[in-house]
This record gives sequence, structure tokens and C-alpha cells, in this order.
Amino acid sequence: MGKIDPTSPVPKYFQLREILLDLIEDAELPVDAPIPSERELCQRYRLSRMTVRQAVDHLVTEGRLYRVPGKGTFVARPKIEMPLRLVSFTEDMRARGLEPGARDLDRRTTPANAHLARVFDVPPGTGVHVVERLRTADGEPMAVERSHIPLTVAPGLPDTPLSDASLYDVLETRFGIVFDAGEQTIEAGIADTADARLLDLARGSAVLLLQRRSFMNGTCVELAVSTYRADRYQLHSALEIPR
Ligand code: GLP
Repeated sequence: MGKIDPTSPVPKYFQLREILLDLIEDAELPVDAPIPSERELCQRYRLSRMTVRQAVDHLVTEGRLYRVPGKGTFVARPKIEMPLRLVSFTEDMRARGLEPGARDLDRRTTPANAHLARVFDVPPGTGVHVVERLRTADGEPMAVERSHIPLTVAPGLPDTPLSDASLYDVLETRFGIVFDAGEQTIEAGIADTADARLLDLARGSAVLLLQRRSFMNGTCVELAVSTYRADRYQLHSALEIPR
């Protein structure tokens, strides 16, 4: 069991935070298990209530613990690391041992406006198919994805049923599209009412807004504008040493 070192320059609340994180990592406090009460933590580690509360508050803000009013504080599931590779949602979920799913929200074909025409390098007015889907992992909503694909590269796409199928699989097998490059921006945002409802989030919850452009032979084939749950995803990246 970890101990608080009163002589350490590290603040006590931070030491308790580390101890609790160790217990979570070692699964001594498994997912959805209640953590000891404030009073128990005060006694066990000889800390003031304020210090204990500060440590727990930090872990709640970080998404490592969650509170249920009237019940206590529990261990949250670890967040999923956002892939920084050009993989499909289906591939990514399968690699994590989760069952990928998709619910069609909308399918429509619209004429490319000036922005889409520029992105896809097609004349304005060219048909662009929009696939809007709720993506799930083991049945839990994770993201709302809106993929835009010009009909110049996938003419029969509007008539192709997708339901649970992988869009990238369909693009490859039916239209010979194999992506060879991609770029992505990720920024913080607030879920709008519709996305919050679809994602099972309280109104005003934080989300991650993604824009991905996927290319084949230098041509942009997909522009995806997606909303991911910020309480389920985090970013992790290696850091390069500047030269
Ligand atoms: C990722 C990308 C989307 C892409 C999707 C395809 O989630 N961010 O841009 O549309 O994968 O996934 P799938 O092939 O499972 O439909």
C-alpha cells in the first residue's frame, strides 16, 4: 500500500492522487468499483478532508473517477486512445477487442459547394454523397461521423447499403479505393443538442471535433467531419526531439 511522505515537496493531495492511480492501474480498484469513502481515506492516509477532496476532485476532472450523487465515487473506464493512423473505425475497434457498430442517421447526395469543390478538386455542383452515422463500440455510442465522398470516385455509393458494414471496406471492394495518405485536425468543442442526445451526453458536454481528409494518389476521396466523446477518447502521441 502506498504511503504519504510528509517530508516530500510533492503536495499531499498529489501523492494521494498517485496512490489512487496505482490502485486503479493494479486493478485493486477495478472499473466501476467504489473508491473508499472520504472518511476512510482521511483515516488511512492521515490526511485532512480538504486534501482528500482535492485529490478526488482532480481524478474526477481527469475522467479517472466518476461520482454518482448519493452513492459515492467510482472508478471510470480507461479512455480509448485516438488512433493517429489512417485506420477505419471498424479496424480500430476490432484491434481493441470491441465490437464496432454503425447506425445510419442520414444518407444524401448534395451538389458540391465552393468549399467541397475545393477540397475534392471537382467543379462546383458535382455530386457529393454524405454518409452520417452513429458509431458504437460494444453497443455504446462513441462518435457521430459525417463522411463526404465525391461521386466522381464512387458513382454507385448512394445505392450501396452500409448498415453495419465498414465504409472503408465498401470503398475498397466496390470502388477500388485504397487510401494512401491522410491528414486530420482534432479540436475541443461542445456537443450540440443533437449530437449530445445521440452520444448519450449531457447538454454542453465537451467533445472532440475531428476533420479527416483521406487521399488516394494525391486526390482527396473522403472528408469526414466527426464528433467524438471526450469522456471516452484521449490523445496520446510520441514526442519528437527537435533537431
Ligand atoms: C474513421 C474515420 C472516418 C471514416 C471511418 C470509416 O472513424 N475517422 O473518417 O469514415 O473511420 O470507418 P468504417 O470503415 O468502420 O466505416
